[in-house]
Amino acid sequence: MPEYSHKNLAKEELFDLIVENFPVGLIVIDEKEKIIEFNPAAQEITGFKKEEIIGKNCQKIFNWVPCRLKHVEKDIKNLSSTANTSIAIHIEGIINHKDGHEIPIRFTAAPLIKNGKVIGAIAIFRDVTQEKQLERHRRVLISMFAHDLKGPLAIAGGLLLRMKNGKAGDLTSKQSQYLETVIKEISKVEKYIKSFLDIVRMEAGQISLSKELCDVVSLITEAVERINIQAREKDIEIITDIPDELPLLYVDKEQIHRVLYNILDNAVKYSPKGSKVIISCEDRVESLLFRIEDNGPGISKDDLPYIFDPFYRANYSENIEGTGIGLAIVKTIVEAHGGKVWVTNKNAPEHGAIFIFSLPKIQPEKG
Ligand SMILES: Nc1ncnc2c1ncn2[C@@H]1O[C@H](COP(=O)(O)OP(=O)(O)O)[C@@H](O)[C@H]1O
Ligand SMILES: [Mg+2]
Repeated sequence: MPEYSHKNLAKEELFDLIVENFPVGLIVIDEKEKIIEFNPAAQEITGFKKEEIIGKNCQKIFNWVPCRLKHVEKDIKNLSSTANTSIAIHIEGIINHKDGHEIPIRFTAAPLIKNGKVIGAIAIFRDVTQEKQLERHRRVLISMFAHDLKGPLAIAGGLLLRMKNGKAGDLTSKQSQYLETVIKEISKVEKYIKSFLDIVRMEAGQISLSKELCDVVSLITEAVERINIQAREKDIEIITDIPDELPLLYVDKEQIHRVLYNILDNAVKYSPKGSKVIISCEDRVESLLFRIEDNGPGISKDDLPYIFDPFYRANYSENIEGTGIGLAIVKTIVEAHGGKVWVTNKNAPEHGAIFIFSLPKIQPEKG
């Protein structure tokens, strides 16, 4: 292929010009995570001059590395030789500015691979402080709005209830039937607002955990007892499968109850009448693994990436009451505890979803 030459620049000169004028931060590290390239946009974002940090360890300077190269190495080995897929990641992160403050960044990083070996990584990044501020501002506005709706709704609901109870005179049966529906709808809206405010607060990192030592068996038993009321209506049996000896967990009891309740509530809600829901707990080295299995429709491939997003509901849920917030709350709480939550489907011929979440065990003090 004939090489296109711009203004007769040598390749290196052109490369330098590109790096120099690249309109977003550019950083290149070697296999030991030492910085080998750092363009002016990157210097502008971080406050560091290139001379100051070339050759320094990226993790030490920024408390951040764009690519965990050890993991990449493993990934590459796992890729087939034909799959020349670039293992690029696009995520948000936080890096330290020279003056000590933290900068939210959005970056795309990829390993530098030569002859199948990782020889470093390259990343481009942008400062997203302003976007974050705007997001926060919007969130505050929306939550203030939602919060302000609560008052009038409570008053309206209260008055309607009084009316329905005959406190404002006799009602025809039609009137009382209408009132009942209106009251029910109002209480639904109140519930939506409450869940909405919960999720906004949690997303804003305002979830404060009051942790205590908890016994797993009683955590599960309490959640199952509560869900059994709904389960019985659908003739669903909830089976618990918990080992005799489990370590105590150091968690916020009320929040973990919420996690269990939300997942069990879905399992019951989305499962056919007369089916079974199994809840089990497994003791792993560093964490406890909770599994909730059902015989419902499972989660389709299309829904899988979004199932934990706030307000996301799969199509089949349309006729089932819900807000799409439950799983978002589950994820926020589990992650706030340092755990993870995910979902898989049962293998054919069985069908149903398996929700799994982990909670870290109390680690013995190192020292
Ligand atoms: N056990 C399950 N089986 C099948 N689909 C589920 C299950 N749990 C959750 N889902 C799907 O995930 C969506 C989000 O769940 P969730 O956040 O709890 O919202 P909601 O229950 O209010 O619809 C549900 O609308 C449903 O489509
Ligand atoms: Mg739900």
